Amino acid sequence: MKILVINGPNINMLGIREPDIYGQQTFADLLALIEDTAREENLEIQQFQSNHEGAIVDKIQECYKKVDGIVINPAAYTHTSVAILDALKAVGIPAVEVHISNVDSREAFRHISYPGMYCEKTVKGQGLDGYRQAIVYLKEKYGK
Ligand code: DQA
Repeated sequence: MKILVINGPNINMLGIREPDIYGQQTFADLLALIEDTAREENLEIQQFQSNHEGAIVDKIQECYKKVDGIVINPAAYTHTSVAILDALKAVGIPAVEVHISNVDSREAFRHISYPGMYCEKTVKGQGLDGYRQAIVYLKEKYGK
């Protein structure tokens, strides 16, 4: 099974940005956690991070008929991006949304998620382990 993990803007700043909200672990730690999960679960996992909305849309389009599942933390684009929502709908690939923090207990503008309107599950407030949970969910539901 092939899974693409997509991280949006400022996720590459983990460990530096607002550690009281996002924790002390770095982006390199996150990449390593996802690689470990791929090995443990015997999955082919590709990773992509971008600070640019269009680059994320391009990457989702590239997945068409090539990837079996998408794990996405759209970061700030969560709350604004109809384009990412439409790209997910266009390719029709099962997707799970991840948020490191519990967005529901933060500012009101973080309570809406456009990509989440497509995603079949959202994992929030679980820290970096949320990515592992999302990957395992896709494997259990769609793994072959
Ligand atoms: C985030 C939550 C978003 O509101 C924020 O803009 C982020 C990270 C999270 O993982 O908790 O950049 O998606």
